[in-house]
Amino acid sequence: MLRFKNCRSHFLVVFVVVIFSSLACGPVRATVSYDDKAFIINGNRRILISGSIHYPRSTPEMWPGLIQKAKDGGLDVIQTYVFWNGHEPSPGKYNFEGRYDLVRFIKLVHQAGLFVHLRIGPYICGEWNFGGFPVWLKYVPGMEFRTDNQPFKVAMQGFVAKIVNMMKSESLFEPQGGPIIMSQIENEYGPIEWEIGAPGKAYTKWFTQMAVGLKTGVPWIMCKQEDAPDPMIDTCNGFYCENFRPHNPRSPKMFTELWTAWYTEFGGPVPRRSAEDTAFAVARFIQNNGSFFNYYMYHGGTNFGRTAGRFIATSYDYDAPLDEYGLPNEPKYGHLAELHKVIKQAEPALVSSYPTVTWLGKYQEAHVFSPKSGGHCALFLSNYDPQNSAKVTFWNKQYNLPPWSVSIFPDCKTEAFNTARVSAGSSQMKMVPVKSGFSWQSYIEDTPTADDGESLVADGLWEQVNVTRDNSDYLWYMTDVNIASNEGFLKNGKDLVLTVMSAGHALRIFINGQLSGTVYGGLENPKLTFTGNVKLRAGVNKISLLSSAVGLPNVGTHYEQWNTGVLGPVSLSGLNEGTRNLAKQRWSYKVGLKGESLSLNTMSGSSSVEWVQGSLLANKQPLTWYKAIFNAPGGNDPVALDMSSMGKGEIWINGEGVGRHWAAYTAHGSCGQCSYAGTYSETKCQTNCGQPSQRWYHVPRSWLKPSGNLLVVFEEWGGDPSGIKFVTRTK
Ligand SMILES: *[C@@H]1O[C@H](CO)[C@@H](O)[C@H](O)[C@H]1NC(C)=O
Ligand SMILES: *[C@@H]1O[C@H](CO)[C@@H](O)[C@H](O)[C@H]1NC(C)=O
Repeated sequence: MLRFKNCRSHFLVVFVVVIFSSLACGPVRATVSYDDKAFIINGNRRILISGSIHYPRSTPEMWPGLIQKAKDGGLDVIQTYVFWNGHEPSPGKYNFEGRYDLVRFIKLVHQAGLFVHLRIGPYICGEWNFGGFPVWLKYVPGMEFRTDNQPFKVAMQGFVAKIVNMMKSESLFEPQGGPIIMSQIENEYGPIEWEIGAPGKAYTKWFTQMAVGLKTGVPWIMCKQEDAPDPMIDTCNGFYCENFRPHNPRSPKMFTELWTAWYTEFGGPVPRRSAEDTAFAVARFIQNNGSFFNYYMYHGGTNFGRTAGRFIATSYDYDAPLDEYGLPNEPKYGHLAELHKVIKQAEPALVSSYPTVTWLGKYQEAHVFSPKSGGHCALFLSNYDPQNSAKVTFWNKQYNLPPWSVSIFPDCKTEAFNTARVSAGSSQMKMVPVKSGFSWQSYIEDTPTADDGESLVADGLWEQVNVTRDNSDYLWYMTDVNIASNEGFLKNGKDLVLTVMSAGHALRIFINGQLSGTVYGGLENPKLTFTGNVKLRAGVNKISLLSSAVGLPNVGTHYEQWNTGVLGPVSLSGLNEGTRNLAKQRWSYKVGLKGESLSLNTMSGSSSVEWVQGSLLANKQPLTWYKAIFNAPGGNDPVALDMSSMGKGEIWINGEGVGRHWAAYTAHGSCGQCSYAGTYSETKCQTNCGQPSQRWYHVPRSWLKPSGNLLVVFEEWGGDPSGIKFVTRTK
């Protein structure tokens, strides 16, 4: 289903469910309350400006700087998901350390004087592995995700209650004096509920009551769920949300995800969204009664290690106002910061009146916020014409409005901002190569075969994640093929044709230890088929298939049931008997790479094998491990690894997972001229076509010591390590 290709799809579900709300379920009576116009925090009516920063997508050392820059950029609120699979990697074994130190992150936001919107989910989508669910959850007997299913509800309630109780015990909810002013339950559930019907509705009713029963003292919201039952606030996610109306007319109008561009997938281009159009989306929303908006993302960051969702790149930059490295992405950061100042000047008028809208032309409008009580006034003049600027006359004055723009007059008199006039300077960030190179050593993995002792053996083909439990991207499928000496193809010198079908995501075929084929899918179609000539000999032939998963799906109805790996058919044709079906015969399985089981990515593990160097160094060889000891690049600028000479694999620094590299996957798609004006979509302003989808891989400074650092690269396809360079991100 195309519409589930990602969680940020912006189709409109047009359906109306009327829920008669009882008066007893009014706005939350605590220090955080709201009406249809504004959030009211400790008695102050507020227009809230928010931005998403996901704590595991940066490091604790980066958090204070990111939060401070968010504050300097004019944000009031930091929004984050809660990452269940990071917090509970195995049942009952919790991790709230390092990048997963949620309490520390929230306390830092509090110290900076900002609020928190905590999106507990625990389904989070987020282009994050398995949508945030731990993989073990799928294997709980009777499990079905995100529906009226008892095992699921028990697990979900357990985790949500754990998080709420943790926040309460640290006094982090606003009525306790903490920064959390709102929470979110589930995530973009409306489309799934629409798809699955009655069990979906029952589940919605259940999780609403469950969440409300946890008595956080702050409002709960549900995004993209038009039938959210009271007292839930339903909210909008999209590129624009000015026409959205919450179904409960007493709810404030909230834009929980204003997409600052889009994610990058391996094989896809890098999407951008202009500062002008992003500001335009904000202004359009605010001039139409908007009371809360959140940039998704304000800092996108990095999908470190194996945390990315299926085919999602390691970089999660998102063209956010703070770039992947935590630096201001200009002019977007500065332009939006100016917009936020002007919105704050207009806030007293915005929170105390509805706009009076006057048409000034075919595409032009005036929105005046002028409370009856007097004293305040704010004016927005908008021009929706995507091509032409417009001269408008309002209150006997003439104004010139650029195409596709809104001018804001926070006192109704002075034009303080126009969304299309950018005065913030643009940043000229460069990736500057660091002079010193690496002194590499290499180690080539053996290609395992069916008679290797420790492997699992079974008749037929197994689903990949069922075997790996996602402890590795890799699963070896190995089998023997007997070729009789009287086979015709042996005499006439012909090849056999091997066909292998896989549910994804990438596959390398080894026959008698020789690489004989490489196939891979993509986000749109993860499935793949290998069909190719193979050379077999009389007697026993060893077929070893290395299937690799590139993240697990994070979105779609019952995505937990989607398969990965070689499920067949697997066949050989050109034999005397015609075609031989190999799918049902005996297969051996080996989870992961030898180098993974030896922890070659760590200092202690890396000494367990013999490495070679100099003239013996492996070059352009598949299944090769590389290591080098290096000094940290000088200075304080953020650093990245340029992996453009490499194929596909994984990177570690001092044992920390930098992420999956796949520089050999170049970006398909069209990258043309892109005007800020006109309706934006994720394919409108693409860059990087024909180049690697991701060339540079962020290495957090805090992972580096001055000297004696260990860099390990596993290269699955074959690459030239002499091309790997450190670069610094510098003006
Ligand atoms: C603002 O909200 C009021 C009250 O719901 C509504 O009557 C009005 O049409 C809204 N205005 C705009 C521009 O959305
Ligand atoms: C999953 O693995 C088990 C063995 O652990 C096996 O019996 C079962 O058939 C496998 N299921 C699939 C779908 O591969």
